[in-house]
Amino acid sequence: MKIALAADHAGYELKEAIKDFLTAYKVIDFGTHSTESMDYPDTGFKAAEAVAKGDCEKGILICGSGLGMSIVANKVKGIRATLCNSAKLARLSRQHNDANILVLQGRFISKKQAGDIISVWLSTEFDGGRHIQRIEKIKKYEE
Ligand code: RB5
Repeated sequence: MKIALAADHAGYELKEAIKDFLTAYKVIDFGTHSTESMDYPDTGFKAAEAVAKGDCEKGILICGSGLGMSIVANKVKGIRATLCNSAKLARLSRQHNDANILVLQGRFISKKQAGDIISVWLSTEFDGGRHIQRIEKIKKYEE
């Protein structure tokens, strides 16, 4: 599986750290590549578009709060990005929302927490069933 990865300066350190949790995957790193201040839309849109186009199956985006990257990713048609700060939310975001982008908070969670969240998020399948019609309504609204 190919995973699109992107961060701003506030997510850079966590982005580098989580590569250790992703060694079993092909990771496409859309930047940023340092802690120098930059604008999260510049990397976030590139990664989200890679997922929307199918170049990557899933994406992980990180900014300081997770809020800016969430806004950016959810502007891209076909993206269901969910900000998760616990493994429980990560599981639900896959089971109920079929999230294709995970957003993390560079300034609010530890590397260990990020690893736990990512591990659950990548190993949890969409439940389908009653949730399908809800996803379909989102897709219809996008059209
Ligand atoms: C950067 O200071 C910060 O605003 C950004 O990382 C993010 O939290 C925005 O939503």
